[in-house]
Amino acid sequence: MARIKILVTGGAGFIGGNFVQYMVNKYPQYDIYNLDLLTYAGDLTKHRDIENNDNYHFVKVDIANREQIITLFEKVKFDYVAHFAAESHVDRSITDPEIFVRTNVLGTQVLLDAARKVGVKKFVHVSTDEVYGELDFDPTTFFTEETPLQPNSPYSASKASSDLLVRAYHETYGLPINITRCSNNYGPFHFPEKLIPLTISRILNDEKVPVYGDGKNIRDWLHVLDHCAAIDLVLHEGISGEVYNVGGHNERTNLEVVKTIINTLGKSEDLIEFVTDRLGHDKRYAIDPTKLEKLGWKPTFTFETGIAQTISWYLDNKWWWEQIISGEYQQYFKKQYSIIAD
Ligand code: NAD
Ligand code: DAU
Repeated sequence: MARIKILVTGGAGFIGGNFVQYMVNKYPQYDIYNLDLLTYAGDLTKHRDIENNDNYHFVKVDIANREQIITLFEKVKFDYVAHFAAESHVDRSITDPEIFVRTNVLGTQVLLDAARKVGVKKFVHVSTDEVYGELDFDPTTFFTEETPLQPNSPYSASKASSDLLVRAYHETYGLPINITRCSNNYGPFHFPEKLIPLTISRILNDEKVPVYGDGKNIRDWLHVLDHCAAIDLVLHEGISGEVYNVGGHNERTNLEVVKTIINTLGKSEDLIEFVTDRLGHDKRYAIDPTKLEKLGWKPTFTFETGIAQTISWYLDNKWWWEQIISGEYQQYFKKQYSIIAD
């Protein structure tokens, strides 16, 4: 019997990278293809433990390169696509929105055309809770799959646009799809420009941690491995055409998150530095995951167990993040945080 071929776009990034490792190890009977352009956010060193596995393959392509993408799909004839590749950082979308439209909107459309051409069995589009906009601080309100799309940043607007294209390819052409909308992820191999890995890496180096505004904005944190399990389930069992929210009810203010990391590492809260707020900073995100739970998903980490595991991982894997925060990353940090750059 022919082996099942799964294309994972963005498999050199944070969540896509964790998903590639999860799938390569869980399904030796599948061929897992990691497709990635290797932008600043992508690196292959994270895959050193699986790169020689027979069921792991890597291909360097830009998802917006129509000719190369169509040629690849026609050659390999993927059965399933899990689409993670994107420009993913809100702050970068505020300073340079154009690449977000190119990659997240046009790139997704190219992939949809290719998927339609070869007749994939399922296209899972990995999206985000940020497409719903923001909630106020009333703890009884949540994003459901029926919440209207009201993106506030160029990043979330580009993701919402791609969601609409995915939906349209299902309605118009009958392409089998699912859209997942997950809350904030954290865990191993998280690029250190995002809040949690930024805080851990800077605290470990006794450097100041920038907290935007008053630190009271709320995010709903999910360990990346729980997100991987959700995508695996949706890929195999999701009802075509459906949207699934992913989240584990782990709401924390940014200040709570930063203080938890500082206290776990036994450092001083004087390392916190309040800096100018993010433009259009969404107040609160919170997911109602009932629909996905009914499909059979349940998170395995609480925020407490997940953050402890993540801090240990960063302590044990300095080899990975120390190479990332040298070089180009230094330029980004100085530009983004002129106030505390040393
Ligand atoms: P990331 O920035 O860590 O990784 C993105 C990957 O995509 C990188 O490896 C990069 O090289 C690759 N890429 C970028 N442009 C490309 C292109 N043109 N062609 C091919 N590859 C390209 O992102 P992440 O945090 O792992 O997020 C993955 C997906 O999950 C994104 O679609 C994001 O919107 C979504 N998401 C992220 C979170 C989160 O908390 N990080 C939460 C919900 C949803
Ligand atoms: O909600 C899902 C989204 O989560 C994903 O779609 C995005 O791809 C992902 O990057 C993430 O977006 P956020 O903007 O929420 O994540 P970030 O880590 O950049 O910021 C988390 C919170 O911390 C946010 O309220 C801004 C704040 N923050 C962030 C940074 C980088 C700070 O206070 N200081 C910082 O230096």
